[in-house]
Amino acid sequence: MSSGAGGLPALVKTRRALGLVGEEARVRGWVYRKRDLGGKIFVVVRDSEGVMQVVVDRATAPPEAVRAAEAATIESAVEAWGRVEADPRAPGGAELRAEGFVLHSRAEDFPIKGGEGVDYLLDVRHLWIRSRRLTAVWRLRHVALHAMRRYLDENGWWEVSPPILTQSAVEGGATLFEVNFFGRKAYLSQSAQFYLEALIYSLERVWSLTTSFRAERSRTRRHLYEYWHLETEEAWARMRDSMRVAAELVAAAVRGVLEGASEELSLLGRSTEPLERAARPDYPSITYDEAVELLRRKGVSVEWGDDLGADEERVLTGYFDTPFFVTHFPKHLKSFYMKPDPGRPEVVLGFDLLAPEGYGEVIGGSEREDRYEALLARIREEGLNPDEYRWYLDLRRYGSVPHSGFGLGVDRLVMWIAGLDHIRDSLPFPRFRDRIYP
Ligand code: 4AD
Ligand code: MG
Repeated sequence: MSSGAGGLPALVKTRRALGLVGEEARVRGWVYRKRDLGGKIFVVVRDSEGVMQVVVDRATAPPEAVRAAEAATIESAVEAWGRVEADPRAPGGAELRAEGFVLHSRAEDFPIKGGEGVDYLLDVRHLWIRSRRLTAVWRLRHVALHAMRRYLDENGWWEVSPPILTQSAVEGGATLFEVNFFGRKAYLSQSAQFYLEALIYSLERVWSLTTSFRAERSRTRRHLYEYWHLETEEAWARMRDSMRVAAELVAAAVRGVLEGASEELSLLGRSTEPLERAARPDYPSITYDEAVELLRRKGVSVEWGDDLGADEERVLTGYFDTPFFVTHFPKHLKSFYMKPDPGRPEVVLGFDLLAPEGYGEVIGGSEREDRYEALLARIREEGLNPDEYRWYLDLRRYGSVPHSGFGLGVDRLVMWIAGLDHIRDSLPFPRFRDRIYP
């Protein structure tokens, strides 16, 4: 297996090279681990797809290759070529016996050696993101996003690009980040929903993937200040239609990961059984009333009308082994734009999708109030300024139709699929209150 330049073997990814036993290959990447046993130097090289052991034998390798391997430090950029041989002791079951070894760039003493605390690791996040574990999360995340995009694409959804700088709150003033916009107040978007609603009158089924911002008061394992939000909005759709899309989207992501990121799942130590159960979109659904009943049965003291927080959600997930919906929340718990149930106006046609295994809410959605007067009344009731929502109200004046949609927290979905215990590791550069670096 030879290529042009200098007669060197073809350059391949480590994952591919592991399968080329008996052939020549060339790999490049960064030094993940190194042991010098005198006769041989073992260099484990890491690239975007995995790791491979390179063996530089002092007795047989060219002297310049030996010198380069000796000089290589952890995280140095290197390249090596030679014959691939099976060896059960090597990671992946094969190793590369070096006939050549080049040191492209020697790394200084790498500040992460293992065993450091989380605080320190967050300070060097720009280096920590190279870890095999986090790299597996980035790949899994890519695969999940790709599967959702494919699902939407194949089912007639238009991808649109709403703004991030906005003029008013979607999800309440308490979590707004304010921006000075040429001397006027603007905000970072909490949700693209209102813009998507405006777009359904031309495109009917729209979706977007944007960052959303929430100035959350409390620190939790599942809240970010800046997160990735996948939102859909559909004309002519009722709450149940939107719930079906939500379930199919999540099931598509799960199937995508099971098929396309199985190595990542095993590297993360993630059990696939819960994921296999979630691969079909027939998720159960309970009402808020039933949720209250189920909570009481487990001894949780909760009154009808109380909000269900992370603790209550965790208890509810004990009843289900797949994702499940909670619907028909009391009106006062949810946003003003949710349409009340015509048969029972004290509850709204809103739904949450909760991930099992204690994870809780990953999606929030609803049927929207599509009547001008009713929406205006709700805006006033909430003490909001109707002027700020004039364009949003306008949408109910020119050909209003029933419509529904939802927002999916991508980071929360990845957190559950990957089995992470903190949302910060679902994305490379999470923002923290005391740390907007790196
Ligand atoms: O439930 P939320 O607040 O709903 C909305 O924003 C709607 N306007 C969406 C819509 O209907 N188009 O947020 C939707 C989802 C949540 O279910 C959660 O997964 C995620 O966004 N989310 C967060 N993820 C990480 N950190 C936070 N601080 C989050 N807040 C919400
Ligand atoms: Mg919500």
